[in-house]
Amino acid sequence: MNEKQKIKKEHKNLINQIKKHNKHYFDKDNPIISDSQYDKLKRKLVDLEKKYSFLKSYGSVNEIVGTKPSNKFKKIKHLKPMLSLTNAFNKNDIEDFLKKINNFLNSKGKIVELFTEPKIDGISATLIYEKGILTKGLSRGDGVTGEDILENIKTISKIPKIIKDDNLPDLLEIRCEIFIGKSDFQKINKNFANPRNAAGGSLRQKDPKETAKIPLKYFAYGLGAVEPNKFFTQSNFLKKISEWGFSTNPMSKKVVGVQEIEKEHQKIDNLRSSLNYDIDGLVLKVNDFHLQQRLGNTSNAPRWAIAYKFSAEKAITKIMDISIQVGRTGAITPVAKVDPVTVGGVVVSNATLHNEDEIKRKDIRIGDFIQIQRAGDVIPQVVSVDISKRTNTSEKFSFPTNCLCGSPTKKEFSKSTKKEDAIRRCLKGYECKYIAREKLKHIVSKEAFNIEGLGKKVIDQFWDLKLIKEPSDIFNLNYKKILQLEGWGDLSINNLKNAISNSKNISLEKFIFSIGIRHIGQENAKILASFFISIEEFSKLYDNKLRKKLLKNLLELDGIGETQIDAIDNFFSNKINIKITKNLSSNLDIISYSIKSKNGKFSNKKIMFTGGFQNMSRSEAKSIAENNGGKVLGSLSKKLDYLIVGDSKPTKRKVDQAKELKIRIIFEKEWNKILNS
Ligand code: IVH
Repeated sequence: MNEKQKIKKEHKNLINQIKKHNKHYFDKDNPIISDSQYDKLKRKLVDLEKKYSFLKSYGSVNEIVGTKPSNKFKKIKHLKPMLSLTNAFNKNDIEDFLKKINNFLNSKGKIVELFTEPKIDGISATLIYEKGILTKGLSRGDGVTGEDILENIKTISKIPKIIKDDNLPDLLEIRCEIFIGKSDFQKINKNFANPRNAAGGSLRQKDPKETAKIPLKYFAYGLGAVEPNKFFTQSNFLKKISEWGFSTNPMSKKVVGVQEIEKEHQKIDNLRSSLNYDIDGLVLKVNDFHLQQRLGNTSNAPRWAIAYKFSAEKAITKIMDISIQVGRTGAITPVAKVDPVTVGGVVVSNATLHNEDEIKRKDIRIGDFIQIQRAGDVIPQVVSVDISKRTNTSEKFSFPTNCLCGSPTKKEFSKSTKKEDAIRRCLKGYECKYIAREKLKHIVSKEAFNIEGLGKKVIDQFWDLKLIKEPSDIFNLNYKKILQLEGWGDLSINNLKNAISNSKNISLEKFIFSIGIRHIGQENAKILASFFISIEEFSKLYDNKLRKKLLKNLLELDGIGETQIDAIDNFFSNKINIKITKNLSSNLDIISYSIKSKNGKFSNKKIMFTGGFQNMSRSEAKSIAENNGGKVLGSLSKKLDYLIVGDSKPTKRKVDQAKELKIRIIFEKEWNKILNS
């Protein structure tokens, strides 16, 4: 063999090796060499091809790599979304929760039975059984779409792979929380901050054999999809599945009223440290499934459940400095840089001071000794200041009146509360680089574009390197530069490319939420999407004249008020915002809003309510109308199809006006008939 032939042979050999490892990584999800070893092989190939130009004909590296979708796990849409829970921190919050339930159900003092369970601090997953056989196991993902982690889940011995019962639903979805016991965590702890992270890491192993090495446990806590339904209460559901072999938490019970809830909260909090797994509160659920269904969900969380958190862990430390942080809406948050201290197993060096008024109220100063507390994943907070430890050189903190970008800040006047806001804000938008960077973090977040691999830290890194300045840059990244950064290899870049490319198909409501107009959260973004339907219509807001007209029409939408309309007007009055929004949308395929239950009882009908109902609250009536394809309006106009009039104190003027406009009027009795038909 001559020299040239030898080189060709080495070249071919390298290509074959890379192909083999691609197969292990992409197809089998089970690489047999590390990322850096793989990168070395590739570098060798590139170098060889550079050195000997006659080799080029064998194909470039980029053709070999990355033809397959590279996300580690297959994405699967949940049969029913996996929601999160609203938090309660004290008795007041619980009283509010109970009041809201009673109001919604219009239950007139009749006490609703609840079921309490410990809230396990682990990783949520969902198990799908078809005719009793475990066929799918998914992670929560973004709540709408999860990842297929079935093989890893199967390594948990206590999870039934088959359920046997004569009376089994054909389809049964069990929601559960997977965790590592505290003692097991001590034994295996390698690089994880806490058992929760370790459980997450273990579940996301590419090789189920790796998962199997770690002793994962779980508690089943909820019912997802079921067909046909054979369950009527949470308590009976858990009893039944525990008979079928599922692990359920033994410290669950029925409770009624605030007193009993408080007692149970105390009791479990006292037991907390003696348990072999982390819990961070109680979950309270309405026990009756029919009532749960009536209560339904807001966009993120069910109305029928709440997480009653335990009081946070506390520690004493010293404030070394106070700096400010700028949020995506320009909010200026003071942050205490503290002497690092361990709180609940995590080293804390920052604590939030909320706002200027809070610093004044507590007279917090640099050099003060403070008590801080940390609850769950939220930023630690300052509980109290120990004034006795203050030296005489200590000075009151004077709050900066300028943003980090140098522009002046202002406290806004809120039209709805008629008060001055406690929060000072930078009035700039993308022109303030601190705001711009936070806006980017919002755009890539789970609720918005949901780009895996492009988290807050990466945004910071890319921002510092000027790889990203505005949202559209995400879709035109300089991957050559990124490849040179530490921690990035061909595989991670490939994953990022895929995640970014997948995110280009985005619904209009998510797009509206993503661009970050103040006061337009997920719920309002949905309402706006249902009004505009397509991006073409939405982009009429960019034009000053058209916008003024459109904004007037928005007032009729239930949920959109003056505050939101002013915020939209403000956002699009800014030319930079328009340019940035246009640049962004030009990279995307924005999917028009589709009305979901088109063939409901009120499909495509515009409805308005007046007066109260006997059997349901206004909120429930509204949610029933919407679930049946109707659109609920907040003001009367010719466009209205039905005015629904409750028996209790309807507004006469509205009824008269509707008569004049020849709008169909439906009284309470008929409304009930329609619902029952
Ligand atoms: S019920 C919203 N029960 O907490 C759906 N959740 O913050 C109803 N969790 O994603 C959830 N223990 O992963 C429920 N006993 C329990 C739970 C529990 C832990 C987790 C669950 C959920 C998260 C919500």
